[in-house]
Amino acid sequence: MKTYVITGGTSGIGEALVNYFSKDNIVFCGYRNEKKLPDELSENIIPFYVDYAKPDTIQGAVEFITSKTDKIDTLINVAGCVVAGAIENIPVSELRRQFDVNVFGAVELSQGLLDNLTNGKIINISSMASYGLFPFISPYCASKRALDILFNSFMMENKRGIKVVSVKPGVIATPLWSKSIKENSQTIENSKDYKNESNYLKQNALENEVKGLSVNKVVQIVSKIDKMSNPKPSYCVGFDAKLVSVVSKLPQYLLNKIIKFKVNKLR
Ligand SMILES: NC(=O)c1ccc[n+]([C@@H]2O[C@H](COP(=O)([O-])OP(=O)(O)OC[C@H]3O[C@@H](n4cnc5c(N)ncnc54)[C@H](OP(=O)(O)O)[C@@H]3O)[C@@H](O)[C@H]2O)c1
Repeated sequence: MKTYVITGGTSGIGEALVNYFSKDNIVFCGYRNEKKLPDELSENIIPFYVDYAKPDTIQGAVEFITSKTDKIDTLINVAGCVVAGAIENIPVSELRRQFDVNVFGAVELSQGLLDNLTNGKIINISSMASYGLFPFISPYCASKRALDILFNSFMMENKRGIKVVSVKPGVIATPLWSKSIKENSQTIENSKDYKNESNYLKQNALENEVKGLSVNKVVQIVSKIDKMSNPKPSYCVGFDAKLVSVVSKLPQYLLNKIIKFKVNKLR
């Protein structure tokens, strides 16, 4: 039996990973809302509370996990959210929340677990958004890019033999998208000058939840990476993510022309 720590284990990709790995392993499953844990938990699942929007909960999570195990084979940082809207209308407090949840939370939890992770793996669920091509969800893009840069540096720096892998899914059918509409409703409401763009954002989010790939695609890739002794630093999941990774290599001025053309079509 191996030991896993998986954050964001109460929904979507994280829940699917918890269900998969807990069949044969011990899984510490991160939750922020106790009500979202199943009534009957497998005995292999040990829930722990952490809310990255409340950074003072992270130390408690670290203490809880390290009091129960000396060794973690794989930490999978999944918890995340999407802050969206036109930059000129997004309160800076929301930008901070985006980075607290998607970046600083994952960094602080990982830092706290490093002694237990010696020679293990950290697998981060990043996103194709890390390539930075999507206006109106740029806080999300920036957070995923920051996550990738910080953890890639960590991999090159660390003397503990910890390998880090960034998994970059394209669109996956999960509740992330409807949550994002709800969580960003105030910014969208305040974006009177960007009505068409906001409507597009909402419609796109609802479509994503239906047209996205199954969470099982992510589970398959993560389980393969977990078994590899020398994984690559980054894996795209889905055709859209692979396409974005290629297109992102174009010069910035050309990318901007293409993106601006698409934005103008909404106006
Ligand atoms: N769906 C996609 O198209 C897609 C594509 C690329 C990457 N991703 C990434 O995949 C990861 C999982 O997302 P998902 O699609 O599975 O969405 P999801 O179903 O909304 O799951 C997100 C998970 O993160 C938890 N979470 C949210 N805010 C948190 C906070 N402040 N503190 C602690 N946990 C928090 C959620 O808890 P609750 O259950 O309480 O809400 C949930 O368990 C995210 O990092 C996301 O960026 C998703």
